[in-house]
Amino acid sequence: MRRTIRGWVGLIVGIAAAVPAGAQPPNYDEAKVPEYRLPDPLLTQAGEKVTTPRQWWSIRRPEILKLFSEQMYGRAPQPPRPIRYRQRVIDSKALGGKATFLNVTIWLLGEQDGPSMEVLLVIPNAAPRPVPAFVGMNFRGNASTHPHPGIPLSKSWMRASRGGEVVDHKMTEKARGSASSRWPFEQIAQRGYAVATVYYGDVDPDFDDGFQNGIHPWFYRDGQRRPEADQWGSIAAWAWGLSRVMDYLERQPLIDAKHVAVMGHSRLGKTALWAGATDPRFAIVISNDSGCGGAALSRRRYGETVKRINTSFPHWFCENFKQYNDREDEMPFDQHMLISLIAPRPVLVCSAEEDRWADPRGEFLSCRHADPVYRLLGTDGLAATKMPAIHQPVLSTVGYHIRAGKHDVTSLDWKTYCDFADRHWKRGGGSGASQ
Ligand code: GCU
Repeated sequence: MRRTIRGWVGLIVGIAAAVPAGAQPPNYDEAKVPEYRLPDPLLTQAGEKVTTPRQWWSIRRPEILKLFSEQMYGRAPQPPRPIRYRQRVIDSKALGGKATFLNVTIWLLGEQDGPSMEVLLVIPNAAPRPVPAFVGMNFRGNASTHPHPGIPLSKSWMRASRGGEVVDHKMTEKARGSASSRWPFEQIAQRGYAVATVYYGDVDPDFDDGFQNGIHPWFYRDGQRRPEADQWGSIAAWAWGLSRVMDYLERQPLIDAKHVAVMGHSRLGKTALWAGATDPRFAIVISNDSGCGGAALSRRRYGETVKRINTSFPHWFCENFKQYNDREDEMPFDQHMLISLIAPRPVLVCSAEEDRWADPRGEFLSCRHADPVYRLLGTDGLAATKMPAIHQPVLSTVGYHIRAGKHDVTSLDWKTYCDFADRHWKRGGGSGASQ
């Protein structure tokens, strides 16, 4: 590959930006992964072995949920009641007549003068009603997911971009459709699935401002300035937002709310896993390249580490999580236990070969070590003891797939999600039912 001078400068600046001053360079050498012992998801804090589903539901699962809630993602508040939303058809013949696009405003506190988020709902016109759906957050506003001119541009704060899509932290027309390769609506509609997507910045802008903006301050008690050490960070807030989308979908008769899969990429993959762990209404949970703080085992310290993520993104987790910087072995949990919280619902973990930062092997191993919980609850768990080769999806109840390429969401990823959902919801010809 030939690089221009600008390309070289960009590369050097990129590398410098990736390794903050004083930070350890990331480990990408399997031989340097330290020895570690994982906490046993089937051993209670009192040292009792969990041998029945009843013990799991009444003792161990609540213990694990409490650990993650209070020491990692942070406790989220109760949802608003009643639910308040307004929906409007953008186009009933979008995608060349194949789908209806709806715009839904959801008031996050149930009050029209409070904060709100906008959902883009894409419903395939030809699919039998009610339609199963995928729900996921997007990084660049709903209008970035498809070039349709009727999708409103987000008015929320947005991270800067290089190509002029975002100016003064606001989305511009230039961003319209810019993320459409990650949201292949036609392909998904063809498979008979609806999609609901929401811009994550509607719930909480993704930067560290001490939790002065976004949803957090709305829940402060008198005099409170920031969340307590065990209260929600941004990931928990985004996950809470996904549950609010679910509140709406349960009231939307065109959608089959018993068959809703939550998916997310990268930081939003971490978010999807936490949403799935905390909200059992998500019948399938899919993480894409979620890495550290998502599906990857923290104790491996391969690629991104706990200290690194807490330093670069101090607002993602609750304050208590920072005590584990460089002290992974002291954590009473690891990410296999996050996966186990989703059991017995199907969970699919997807990695990309070149995305070493997210530690694909560590993501696979989380699935592997969640398997005993899935088996205790009567499922087939993960039908692989060794990490599968590229493009050999394992679609058992704990599913795992690694594809070639980099950190991204591709149409092959969506094919795998649809195959997984078809298989577990017993739909279609099951083109993915080959494993
Ligand atoms: C950074 C971060 C990751 C995260 C990713 C993303 O690379 O270190 O933890 O998953 O951003 O969300 O794109």
